[in-house]
Amino acid sequence: MANALMSAVPTAVSWFKLDDQKKAFCAMVKELQVQGVFAENCYFYIDAHTKTGFIIDPGAQAGLIYDTVMRNGWHIEKILLTHGHFDHMGAAELLREKLVAPIYIYPTDGKYLTDPYLNLSGNSGDPITVPHYEEVYDGETIRLKANSGFYLKVIHTPGHTPGSVTYWSPEERVAFVGDTLYQHGPGLTNFPGGNRQELEQSIIEKVLTLPEDTLLLSGHSSPITVAQERRLLLGQ
Ligand SMILES: [Fe+2]
Repeated sequence: MANALMSAVPTAVSWFKLDDQKKAFCAMVKELQVQGVFAENCYFYIDAHTKTGFIIDPGAQAGLIYDTVMRNGWHIEKILLTHGHFDHMGAAELLREKLVAPIYIYPTDGKYLTDPYLNLSGNSGDPITVPHYEEVYDGETIRLKANSGFYLKVIHTPGHTPGSVTYWSPEERVAFVGDTLYQHGPGLTNFPGGNRQELEQSIIEKVLTLPEDTLLLSGHSSPITVAQERRLLLGQ
């Protein structure tokens, strides 16, 4: 059953557009795999009309991410982090400076940004800290200044870390889930602050209850829909 599901999920995205001409806006999502100690999926969530948007989880290769922004003529208003692990924020500080875009994270993961032990970079030989950041909150709507109809909602999904969040677009049926879950199953909880029970609760009550055609975009796997992930994890 699982194998059949895995063959049915979308292949890795390099560039796709979620478009509906009837809407006042349409979103572009670009996945850019960056390579630090680990490979990680950095995402761009861009309003096609204003070419303005957000970067989600710039884990490494700030130069490559910056060049992608410049080459496409985008303006980045905010850098959004799903959680504080170094492979999701390793390029954030440089990009904050170069793009003049503030970094956002859930309050309880703020301390991860300034502690190489918590953010797991301490053993990498290249400790990483992010000293300047602002906070997002559960239920908050993060809107573009350039187009207030373009937004992401914050869903607190603890478990992988205490302050893990999912950034969800109800309009475009896409959710950036970080390391809460992957195409192949739940995220890990064997790091500082991880909690298996909380993770399962987040997945079952907050992610798998999103509309079933919502595309889940994770930090380390190809996309999967809520319906596919429900069948994979819950058998329903
Ligand atoms: Fe992580």
